[in-house]
Amino acid sequence: MQEREQWGSRLAFVLAAAGSAIGLGNIWKFPYITFENGGGSFVLLYLFCIAIVGLPVIIAEMMIGRATKKSPVAAIEELAGKNSPWKIMGIMGVAASFIILSFYAVVAGWVMHYVYLALTDTFSTMKPDDFGTLFGKIYANPGLNLFWSTIFMGATLFIVMGGVKGGIEKAVKILMPVLIVIMVLLIINSIWLPNDGFMKAIKFIFIPNGGLHGAAILEALGHAFFTLSLGMGAMLTYGSYLDDKTDLFKAGLIVAALDTVIAIMACIIIFSIMFAYEGEVGKSVGLVFISLPQEFIKVPGGFFVAVSFFLLLFFAALTSAISLLEVPVAYLIDKGWDRNKASFTMGVSIWLVSIPCALSGSAWWQGTFKNFGFLEDSFFKNKGTFFDKMDYLASNWFLPVGGLLIALFVGFAMNHVLRSDQFKIGTGTQRPIHYKPWLFFTAIISPIIISIIILIEAGIIDKNLVNQFFDGLLGNKTEIKQIHK
Ligand code: TRP
Repeated sequence: MQEREQWGSRLAFVLAAAGSAIGLGNIWKFPYITFENGGGSFVLLYLFCIAIVGLPVIIAEMMIGRATKKSPVAAIEELAGKNSPWKIMGIMGVAASFIILSFYAVVAGWVMHYVYLALTDTFSTMKPDDFGTLFGKIYANPGLNLFWSTIFMGATLFIVMGGVKGGIEKAVKILMPVLIVIMVLLIINSIWLPNDGFMKAIKFIFIPNGGLHGAAILEALGHAFFTLSLGMGAMLTYGSYLDDKTDLFKAGLIVAALDTVIAIMACIIIFSIMFAYEGEVGKSVGLVFISLPQEFIKVPGGFFVAVSFFLLLFFAALTSAISLLEVPVAYLIDKGWDRNKASFTMGVSIWLVSIPCALSGSAWWQGTFKNFGFLEDSFFKNKGTFFDKMDYLASNWFLPVGGLLIALFVGFAMNHVLRSDQFKIGTGTQRPIHYKPWLFFTAIISPIIISIIILIEAGIIDKNLVNQFFDGLLGNKTEIKQIHK
């Protein structure tokens, strides 16, 4: 057996974990679901999910990893026995990494294409109507999607092959500081935008305004898992390379806080620009790829703003993708494989699974597979293309179920001496006062909330009931237009 790899420092671990958490979820997805759900109230609900469910579970995941120094499947085998049913959690994690990475690589591919378009100053030559057409063409272009997603998977594979210290740590130590600097520069830039865009954005994001729909809670919780990289063992795996000195609560808190701050900053940057030029804010994938580039050309120094924005998005995607690939790779390494062979095998397998995602927007795919019931029609009938189904399957099922199992496992199945010892490390006290509250939230509160969400998702609890509850709580839906005009 090779010796287990370790992070070079605590900072490296925090940067890697934050790099995993901060990704397309924060900068591409969070702003458009925030807009879709009307702003302030949704942000509040999301913050609530992060604090009540996300924080306890991220600590629980890191704890299982650090306690065993193993990847998900092997970790559960060690803690619960070789034939324990809890193992399903680890296996689901490996499956989820395939599902998530396969569509993640496609979106990251669009991002890379947009970096190229920004660098060649293509946007400034386009008319407002062209932006939608452009994205539509990219979405439906199988060759282009395959080309970029292949390069993206190649880059991810290259970094993971380098190992924990020589690959992942090196990459995050360069990319994360650059990412944060770009974010700050873009924020500063948005302060001076015309039309009070900045203040309108701040109000939209921070002032709760009713306007919430019951479905928002499903979305907020699913996204809390996705954005913190929870529920499939990514944080567990990163935690397994951690020394026995780090305070897990503090580490989890810093990562969750960084992730949240970046998500909010992304909203400020994007909405400031959209409100400053009174652009039509896209409610879906199109926000960042259609609506925003259209306004970039009006921003002073728009060329640089566009280039830095898409580069930022690319770096964020890359540091997340490496954590997604590391999970199945670590699984094979714990089975005795060497890193190169494990990375290559998993990288190529995931790349193969990503092909249908890359092609599923094209007319060719939709024509060819029209009669292939199993891919487009038979599962999750109303959930869009193959690509959309993968996102839905992961964010709404695999991650919440995985998170539920992790919380229950740490709450009830893990040896309680080991658990409290793991929690104490690095706190400098034998009886940390936050241990009991953390345990209560991990074992009781999170599982209850997650279970309710799963029951709603499964249709066992009626969605209308949830709607009524929210209407009572926050008032009826207000016109979104009113807020941003
Ligand atoms: N958290 C990342 C984002 O917000 C995506 C991600 C990376 C992820 N690793 C994960 C999501 C593991 C779920 C599980 O974009």
